[in-house]
Amino acid sequence: MESPGAATRADRVRALVAAHRGDRGALLPILHRIQEEFGYIDADDVPVLAAELNISRADVHGVVTFYTDFRSEPAGRTVVRLCRAEACQAVGAERLIAYAEQSLGVALGQTTPDGAVTLEQVFCLGNCALGPSGQVDGQLHGRLTPARLDALLAASRAAAPAAYEVTTSGKTVNS
Ligand code: FES
Repeated sequence: MESPGAATRADRVRALVAAHRGDRGALLPILHRIQEEFGYIDADDVPVLAAELNISRADVHGVVTFYTDFRSEPAGRTVVRLCRAEACQAVGAERLIAYAEQSLGVALGQTTPDGAVTLEQVFCLGNCALGPSGQVDGQLHGRLTPARLDALLAASRAAAPAAYEVTTSGKTVNS
């Protein structure tokens, strides 16, 4: 049996489907709307979408997992996306990613256990001449180094001090 919250979400998903009914290729815009509203595509959304759009659950799941922009779980309060495309790789993107993974204690695609930071990969941000490039909460940054990344995360923490409890090295600094 669905919880009241789940029922509300399912109803909202059905309403979003209804708003796009008849559109060609409706699944993608519907998924974007769900993610805008809820922050991620929940596993429970998949059967609702499949039933409403008369497609298989596997088809819905395939689209959600194919596009890296779609999340299957809530993102952290800060989202860091680091570019792994060729130009950034040539100027040290992999070293930067290795540092970020090690300092945050998560792999690409994961969120720190306290929900503070989600670390993601991206393939080209259109800032190739200034790599390694990345985004912190949607803001584009070039010539990233470990120190600059730490500074950006610190600034993000300062913008929402109550929301953060750990530094990138895992030490508690605020609660
Ligand atoms: S390759 Fe990284 S921004 Fe284009």
